[in-house]
Amino acid sequence: MAKKLYFGSNLKMYKNTADTVAYLKALEEKTKDIPNIQMFIIPSYTTLERASQAVDHNNILIGAQNMCWEDQGQFTGEISPLMLKELGLDLVMIGHSERRHVFGETDVEENKKVLASLKHGFKTLLCIGETAEEKNFGISVEVLRTQLKVGLHGVEEKDLDKVWVAYEPVWSIGVNGTPAKADYAEEMHKEIKKCLNELFGKASKNIPVLYGGSVNPTNADELIVQKHIDGLFTGRAAWDAEKFDLLIRQALKAYANKD
Ligand code: PGA
Repeated sequence: MAKKLYFGSNLKMYKNTADTVAYLKALEEKTKDIPNIQMFIIPSYTTLERASQAVDHNNILIGAQNMCWEDQGQFTGEISPLMLKELGLDLVMIGHSERRHVFGETDVEENKKVLASLKHGFKTLLCIGETAEEKNFGISVEVLRTQLKVGLHGVEEKDLDKVWVAYEPVWSIGVNGTPAKADYAEEMHKEIKKCLNELFGKASKNIPVLYGGSVNPTNADELIVQKHIDGLFTGRAAWDAEKFDLLIRQALKAYANKD
């Protein structure tokens, strides 16, 4: 059977509650007939309660963009895993490039968040990626390996079915980003899977590794057909339900015709 493909979007700090709900409902309606894919959307915090109620989670998983590693305490401005659980969320994203590079989060902090997220039963999407400078120094693989080895330190085999990874090179993300070439993305995904195998052995083979960073209708097809890419984590090109639906269907067609 063909592998399950993952399609999702981080809405970043866009869309208010009404817009998020309308977007989710439209996206669910358009995509619910598509078999063998896993959809997920990660809206901003203030919309999450309504977002979680807006869709059938069998169709679209709903996630949070960040989370504190502690259940409660003197952590002003942070959101606890218990608070996210209360909203019925499925997934928590950890270590998005903007958390690391705008807000200065470290691999050690991402690790604490990963462990907390898994402890509370969330699917846990760890984002990793090298900067342009690191790529120019030829240390992309070393950077990715460090982010994986620290970020996933102490993860137990019993929790691996909840671990997802997104490879999002920092230089490829956002309005000033350059999309990674499909062969480069594939090479990095292969290295990521090799590292996951070193860390967790055979049990790592079901960890999905998604590509993100300027995914758009012109590059989605060549990315999704790569052997080690299990899905597309899309930003801007996904924020219109109709366009995202078309991108997914087009990518699936390319995937179905790849051999
Ligand atoms: P982008 O965002 O597709 O708009 O580059 C990707 C991301 O940040 O996840």
